[in-house]
Amino acid sequence: MIICRTIKFINFTLILTIIILSASCHSRKNVVNSDEEIDYITSQVENSINAVNNDPTRIPRTITEDGKLRTVGIYGWTSGFFAGNLWYLYDLTGDDKWRKRAIKWTEALDSVQYYTEDHDIGFIINCSYGNGLRLAGIKEYEKVIINAAKSLTTRYNPITKSIKSWNRKKAWDGETEWYFPVIIDNMMNLELLFEATRLSGDNTFKDIAVQHALTTMQNHYRKDFSSYHVVDYDTITGNVLDKATNQGFVDQSSWARGQAWGLYGFITCYRYTKDEQFLQFAENIANYILNHPNLPEDLVPYWDYDATNSKLIPEWDYDPEKYPVVLRDVSAAAITCSALFELAEYNIENSEKYKNKAFKLLESLASSTYMNTDNENNYFILNHSVGSLPHGAEINAPLVYADYYFLESIRRKKKVLN
Ligand code: GLY
Repeated sequence: MIICRTIKFINFTLILTIIILSASCHSRKNVVNSDEEIDYITSQVENSINAVNNDPTRIPRTITEDGKLRTVGIYGWTSGFFAGNLWYLYDLTGDDKWRKRAIKWTEALDSVQYYTEDHDIGFIINCSYGNGLRLAGIKEYEKVIINAAKSLTTRYNPITKSIKSWNRKKAWDGETEWYFPVIIDNMMNLELLFEATRLSGDNTFKDIAVQHALTTMQNHYRKDFSSYHVVDYDTITGNVLDKATNQGFVDQSSWARGQAWGLYGFITCYRYTKDEQFLQFAENIANYILNHPNLPEDLVPYWDYDATNSKLIPEWDYDPEKYPVVLRDVSAAAITCSALFELAEYNIENSEKYKNKAFKLLESLASSTYMNTDNENNYFILNHSVGSLPHGAEINAPLVYADYYFLESIRRKKKVLN
């Protein structure tokens, strides 16, 4: 009798365990571990394509406050990420259907190669054409990359020794004029220039990239290796006129995505130059991020590392009642994750540490806390990013570039494991 009850109890516990496990497997889309979950991602992206009727000039970016899909045209700074996602899916699945789609969404961006009105051409062309060249070897893309690099170099100024991010514009207060604003994000555009030198043999592109990086090291960074968002220059003397924020909490604070752009950018500089000073600088930024007292346990940062500091009063209209819980920025986490995977590849003392942090971060991003469930949020993969809190835009929302760097992290993880 007792034996019988014990067996029944064991059976019951076993069944319960199986039910709990299968339920948690279902809700937790753990993309880092199985092909099944890559299938989930491909179905999300497939649905995104259908949602815009396969029209590559309607490029998914985020959702609106009332939950509708928000798309951008080809000149928006995020326009290259969706094509990039398609290239990464081609690479992850090997399925030719994704290559064809990636080509279609990439080539819709053709005229961007001549665009000179801001610095974002690096993001746009490198994520689309750059990945087409890297992952599918499409030779014709080389000339687009070189043309785009030429367009970007029109924004370089030998007096400020940097590339202008935005044209002259007013700062926060509506009074201060920024004449030659350079934002930390600009570090991400340098890869286009390095690629152009690699493809053309013309060192002008690389020299500009290196000079821009050196100027950024000197003027954007504080002693603790956190970065200002915006540095404005005087184009006659080359002097710094202003150090400020555009999307961070306050001028002196540490906007999370900016820290991620800088980290990724300096690692890229090392990849192409093998100049140790860039690697050392990247490690210093990585350590600033990873040792930050406000970095949560799951490594997904608040949208600004200083956003929890109640002593800081932003100049923009911040409503703490509206945001009682300080928001995370999943996009910053995804960029950081991908960057840490690359940093770990280099032969440095803390390589193992960076790799483990990247694994942990990817695991967090792939958890049900941050990942959309089926059909949720217009088929974006991740949720809970912050576009710009001061602008009241894309708050706690999915963002196409969070998905891009998440997919890149998955690829990089596979590389590390292989
Ligand atoms: N590059 C613009 C942003 O990170 O919001």
